[in-house]
Amino acid sequence: MDKIITITENISFTMTDSILELSYLIASVLFIVGLKMLSNPESARRGNTYAAIGMVLAIITTILFHKQDGQPIGNIGYILVAIVIGTIVGWTIAMKVKMTAMPQLVSLFNGMGGASAALISLMEFPHISAALVAEHGMMNGHVLAILLGLVIGSVSFAGSMIAFGKLDGRIGDIRSPLMRYINIGLLVIVVGFIVYIMTLGSVKIDEITYLIYILLAIALVYGIAFVMPIGGADMPVVISLLNSFTGVAAAMGGFLYNNQAMLTGGILVGSAGTILTVLMCNAMNRSLLNVIIGAFGGGGAAMVHEEGNIREITLSDAAVLLNYSQKVVIVPGYGLAVAQAQHICHDLDKLLESKGVEVKYAIHPVAGRMPGHMNVLLAEADVPYEKLIESEHINPDLPNTDVVVVIGANDVVNPAAQDDPSSPIYGMPIVNARAAKNIIVMKRGMGKGYAAIENYLFFNDKTRMLFGNAKDTLQALVAEIKEL
Ligand code: TAP
Repeated sequence: MDKIITITENISFTMTDSILELSYLIASVLFIVGLKMLSNPESARRGNTYAAIGMVLAIITTILFHKQDGQPIGNIGYILVAIVIGTIVGWTIAMKVKMTAMPQLVSLFNGMGGASAALISLMEFPHISAALVAEHGMMNGHVLAILLGLVIGSVSFAGSMIAFGKLDGRIGDIRSPLMRYINIGLLVIVVGFIVYIMTLGSVKIDEITYLIYILLAIALVYGIAFVMPIGGADMPVVISLLNSFTGVAAAMGGFLYNNQAMLTGGILVGSAGTILTVLMCNAMNRSLLNVIIGAFGGGGAAMVHEEGNIREITLSDAAVLLNYSQKVVIVPGYGLAVAQAQHICHDLDKLLESKGVEVKYAIHPVAGRMPGHMNVLLAEADVPYEKLIESEHINPDLPNTDVVVVIGANDVVNPAAQDDPSSPIYGMPIVNARAAKNIIVMKRGMGKGYAAIENYLFFNDKTRMLFGNAKDTLQALVAEIKEL
């Protein structure tokens, strides 16, 4: 009888094990397919849903079937309460957040991912198997995964919180040559500490648990100091770098628990974030090392600018100019998102096209506040994807363009990036708006852009300012053109 019970237990053990493995496999496939679909605006929403289904599947089957030393998961009540609270908080924030505050939200969520990975390491360190340490000392893959998960997760958490504060305008940049040395010093200390713990040999884990809290503190300080000096045009690169850190830290957790879904998810986030970081660096003409240890531009001699005069244009003159043009290029920027003027912007574009004007959009890689911000915004207004041309491809066409209409963009059209070695954005590629025959700039006033610097495009002889909230201005402009 006992034998029959044992056989039945064994069968059910392998059954639940297989279901778990199978669900992880399905979840991993859903992550990969979902990620692939994110690369096209038309399939992106579905891709997001597929990946979310994969995650829900992995969470449910883990709770139901995961076993540790033959024992099922305990504290299910607490886990469910935590899931419900987390879901309600996350859902409410995501539903309420304004499109323009999305980058802050992404940073916040990314930081939470890093914190979770670090917490896993904190919880698991005291439970490192005594037998493992007795046999191999601290120099083993298990300990390394815990320490790397802790450090990378903490850096990602602290860095993302600073990035959140900077994007939200609550924290300013601290730039000084000293920061570079402090950061290098902190990094050396972090690596040295990991090496020290791993070379401790055969020790009692509960006697050295305090070491992990010291490492946590140093990693948090490093995360803050690492992001603090980076600002302006380098922020997009840092955000995607922090994203990849969180992925790698989560993958360490997957390695620790031998959980394939967590491992695949972490590796996918880590590699996608790394690829995005490299793409952003290329788009911004910067090396990653330069972003991390040096501030953007600012190294050369300051240029003296002739401020000149600001010239305004009336709505009716702007309407005539656009109506009788052959080629118009719209440069959207963060202000277009703030004004939520994407729909009326598309109306202007359709109206001009109906009058025989060719209209295209110049998309700068860091326009707005998150990668692909302008693409997402304009896709929301059903602007055909093929009309969105990346700045490097549209720039050669601009000298033959009758009017460039800059709507709520500032830094991404600032000629200082080409002319002024003392500028913090020097070296960043821009939409070369000043090459066009005429330039109309729509903004509310003379407010500065994210990099907080003057823009001499606004004083250019060919530039005419059309002041006002972008949505109101565009509405009035469309009405005016309809009258012609
Ligand atoms: P910004 O340089 O930020 O300029 C936006 C301009 O929009 C402001 O000068 C503002 O001038 C105007 N504006 C704001 N609200 C408006 C409204 N309701 N109607 C009309 N105009 C309005 O934008 P950009 O050219 O898109 O450049 C993006 C910047 O953000 C870059 O420096 C980039 O490095 C940084 N950044 C980008 C990202 C990513 S990944 N895209 C992430 C973090 C930081 P007024 O106040 O005078 O109206």
